[in-house]
Formats: sequence, C-alpha cells, structure tokens
Amino acid sequence: MPTLNTVAGAKHARIYSVGSYRPRRAVTNAEVCELIDSSDEWIRERSGITERRWAGEGESVVYMAAEAAKVAIERAGISASDVGLIMLATVSHPYAFPSAAVEVGDLIGARGAPAFDLSAACAGFCFGVGMAADLIRGGSAKFIVVVGVERLTDYVDKHDRGTAFIFADGAGAVVIGPSETAGIGPTVWGGDGSQKDAITVSASMTDYRDGIVSEYPTTVMAGQQVFRWAVGEMPKAINQALEIAGITAADLDVFIPHQANNRITDALVRALDLPEKVKVARDIITTGNTSAASIPLAMDAMLQSGEAKSGDTALLVGFGSGLVHAAQVVTLP
Ligand code: UT7
Repeated sequence: MPTLNTVAGAKHARIYSVGSYRPRRAVTNAEVCELIDSSDEWIRERSGITERRWAGEGESVVYMAAEAAKVAIERAGISASDVGLIMLATVSHPYAFPSAAVEVGDLIGARGAPAFDLSAACAGFCFGVGMAADLIRGGSAKFIVVVGVERLTDYVDKHDRGTAFIFADGAGAVVIGPSETAGIGPTVWGGDGSQKDAITVSASMTDYRDGIVSEYPTTVMAGQQVFRWAVGEMPKAINQALEIAGITAADLDVFIPHQANNRITDALVRALDLPEKVKVARDIITTGNTSAASIPLAMDAMLQSGEAKSGDTALLVGFGSGLVHAAQVVTLP
C-alpha cells in the first residue's frame, strides 16, 4: 500500500474582517401587530425587539450574502481571487440546489473557489467559523469566507403570533485566514435530534405538492421549550468553550450570543456571571432574530459603533433548530 502525502496549513487561524447587509425595510412592532393579536408592549417585554428588517424585492439570500461577503473581503484587504472556499450557513435559501454559496462565489468574483451551504440553523455561523479554522490549519484553504444569511420571512406565517414578531432577514460574513497567533479557540458543538420538532417547518415541500397539506410550509416553534433548553444547556457549552480556550469569563471583552431573544441573553449573562466590563450584543432590539446571520450582524454593529474594538476577546454561541449548538472564543477583527 503506498504512503499518501498529506498537507498541513497555518499554525493558527483568525478572523480578518466582518461585513454585513441589512435589508432596506425596517418593520415596526405596530406593523407586525396589524396581522397578529399582540402589542408593541408585549413584544418588547417578551423578546426585546422594537423593530426588525424584512427583505424586499431583489434582496434574495444570494444577493444579501454576496453584499456582506464583498464588504468583508474588502475590509480583509484581500482580493476575491484569494478566496479558497465559501461556506454559507442558511436555512432559507429557496433552492435545494445548486448551493447559494456557489452563486455567491460567482457574484463576488471568486470563480473557481469551492463553495457549499451548511444547514445548522441559528448555530450555522459558529459551525462555519469552527470548520474554517480547522480547514485552514489542515491546509485545505488559505482564506475562507463564512457567511450567515437568512430570509426567514419567506418561511414565517405573518399571521402566527408565536413566530411572526421574532424572525427577520439579513446577512453577515467574515473572512478567516492564517495567523501567527491563535485567533479562534476550539469549538464546542453538539446536536440533539430528539428535539427536532421544537423548531421546524410545518410540512415538507413534497407533502405540500402532493396536497397532503394545503398550507404553504412555515415555521412552527415550541417557544418555551427552546427558551428553557437554551438557558439550561448553553451555559454548559459556553463554560466548556472558555475552558478549552484556556481562559475564564474575566478575560472576555465581548459576548455575542445568537440574537434569539433579549431575555435569553439576559439569562445567559446571569448564569455565566459575566463581569460588568463585558460588552453584550443586543442587536436583536432593532434587527430581530435572523438565525445564522445574527452573530456576524451583531459583531459588525458592535465594531462599527465602537462598542467593541479590534483585538477584543469575544465569546460566540449559536443555538437553534435541530436542536444544535456551537460556541467558541475568538479575537475580533
Ligand atoms: O432562534 C432560534 C431559537 N429560538 C429561540 O430561542 C426562541 C425561544 N423562545 C422565545 O423567545 C419565547 O418563547 C417567545 C418570545 C417566542 C415567546 O415568549 P414566551 O414568554 O415564551 O411566551 P409564551 O409562549 O409562554 O406565552 C405567554 C403568554 C401566553 O398567554 P397566557 O397563556 O399566559 O394567557 C400566550 O398566549 O403570551 C401569549 N402570547 C402572546 N401574547 C401577545 C404568545 N404569543 C403572543 C404574542 N402577543 N405574539
């Protein structure tokens, strides 16, 4: 049997840059409440959300992802031809194939780069960051674009008071590349398919086609079940991510959890006993819950506003439909 060659990549990886795209149309709670029996007060109190962005004409998953990726590539100081892989986390691209990622590669001028979509719902971005770091260290690519993008409004019933006010649209992207020092800690991740029904789609497209269901499939969520799971299980994953990165909560500058619900963020901050100095992402207030896009959107907003700065140590945690989760410590670009 011949001995096969293997390759090794950079010693470490880091995030070079982040970019994002927010849909043009801001939608207030009052507008959402035109279709559901709810109120601005209830939505603010139970989720923290005051408004969100809904994608309109032309703002497809592919378009939003490409816009975010272009910004990230420019800020990274590389050219599109340097991109060695595009990994796109989404659950709302309306085509089963080809991937949104490969179309994004064409739009941004990264022709020839391998590209694929990854389906890990609200944990998708952190799945991508972890895999990108490992692929760079393994020598499979030098620069990787990781995108989190959603157009969830295509899969939400605007008359469903359990989901209509919370989910929204947008895109965020990072460029990850080689580094002399460790800029991405090990990823703690997991999945529990026994809770697959906690957030799912009401029916398959084939059931809809065959008339087994008459309503177009939309998101159904057991909100309280997901809430309890997130608050109960995520502190464990986060503490493991801190431990294997070799740091403690006292070393953190920034906490960017998936923007699921501002009360989940509050509960995580309490459970982790985060020091006061740690800046906490609250992008959900004006952006809603954008699933795979929420962490890079929040990261970009915090860096652009000056609330967080380049070189800060940040803890990321994504969690959602599956149920799946992923957490890691990173150095902000
Ligand atoms: O991103 C992926 C992961 N997803 C999440 O992490 C979401 C996790 N879940 C949540 O964020 C929360 O469960 C929601 C924000 C979705 C709902 O908040 P909640 O505090 O869990 O509400 P609930 O479902 O327990 O309902 C409480 C009450 C009920 O009334 P009663 O039975 O107490 O009289 C509901 O009927 O609020 C009522 N209610 C509403 N009232 C006004 C439920 N939805 C609404 C609504 N407006 N939209």
